[in-house]
Amino acid sequence: MTTAKGLEGIIIDSSEISKIDGAAGRLIYRGYDIHDLTSSLSFEEVAYLLWDGNLPNEEQLKKLNNHLVHQRAIPQNLQSAIRNLPATSNALDVLRTAISILGAEMPLKKPDIADAIAISAKIPTINAAFDRMRNGREPIEPRDDLSHAANYLYMLTGRNPDPVKVDALNKYLILLADHSMNSSTFTARVVASTWADAYSAVVAAICALKGPLHGGAPAPVLKMLQDIGTPERTEEWIRNELKSDRRLMGFGHRVYRTTDPRAQILKEIAEKSAPKNLIELAKRVEETGIRILQEYRPQRKLYANVEFYSAIVMHSVGLSPDLFTATFAASRSIGWTANILEQVAHNRLIRPEAEYTGPLNRKVVPIKAR
Ligand code: CMC
Repeated sequence: MTTAKGLEGIIIDSSEISKIDGAAGRLIYRGYDIHDLTSSLSFEEVAYLLWDGNLPNEEQLKKLNNHLVHQRAIPQNLQSAIRNLPATSNALDVLRTAISILGAEMPLKKPDIADAIAISAKIPTINAAFDRMRNGREPIEPRDDLSHAANYLYMLTGRNPDPVKVDALNKYLILLADHSMNSSTFTARVVASTWADAYSAVVAAICALKGPLHGGAPAPVLKMLQDIGTPERTEEWIRNELKSDRRLMGFGHRVYRTTDPRAQILKEIAEKSAPKNLIELAKRVEETGIRILQEYRPQRKLYANVEFYSAIVMHSVGLSPDLFTATFAASRSIGWTANILEQVAHNRLIRPEAEYTGPLNRKVVPIKAR
């Protein structure tokens, strides 16, 4: 029996949803290159693509928009539950709790597209409601005349959002929507494979998104940039971090051995939406980080990953760092639910094995004799 630590290189199933070419630095959703998808499409069109397999025509998109808009509001009992959580709670923990509360009212049934739409439509409303309540403000009802991205910003601020910020957030949401068999998507598929409901599978996926090795890196990336402060301090700061045996947040990836294409596109977005001094500092940190990581780990090709420029884009559209991972979830909920639907359509229980390396043939002795 051979073991694959971290399941590296193990193909657990086939999927028609997304493909990563780690050597070429390409990401494809349902056959379309991510560059094309971010050039002119709405997040809603890409959600349709990921769920259905094809891009929608005008009528299909209108129908999906109506369903999403109709599902945006959250029930009063959920608003009260969010209000009762400590204001110091982490926004991703609040989101996990909120999806769990919504799921508690649902029957145990096979996940379907209605679950996918309801969950994805409500995540921005939950994030925005918590953000307002913890700041002593009342939540704002969703507006049905705004896109998914514009409505998210509107519910956070109560103001008509700036089109540059809406465009940046729309592109961010598209770029993060799916990424093959990443940790949280795999988790969602494992739970769905047991014939659990969609809400349970999404709660589990949110749990897997929390740690900094997966979705929890963007807030530490922004903190790193703030700690570095000015471009001249970059090299010393990075060397000190690596000497102290800490990982550089926003660098490295299990699959990409070259630049993550999402990081490249997010960098272009950040150049339009972020303050000039922040983007200049980020570019210096990226270049210096790649160079020094190459020195420290010559056998490994470590580049800036998606979370590096995600942090800058999310900061530039006005999100507080604590909302970064919860906003990642707002995007990835599309991929999670697409994968849950694919899993249940061709299900077999996911149940790998471990190589047992513990002792054998031990005899139980009475407690007083141990
Ligand atoms: N800084 C310093 N060293 C690193 C880094 C880094 N960012 N990334 C990898 N390494 C080193 C690591 O210490 C290890 O060295 P050694 O072999 O000497 O022990 C070697 O590279 C391989 O690391 P690994 O953890 O086995 O590699 P992986 O492919 O499992 O790691 C990763 C992928 C993302 C967990 C890792 O690169 C990392 O910890 N990055 C920093 C956190 C981060 O940016 N997270 C966001 C990930 S991207 C979003 C997503 O897709 O989920």
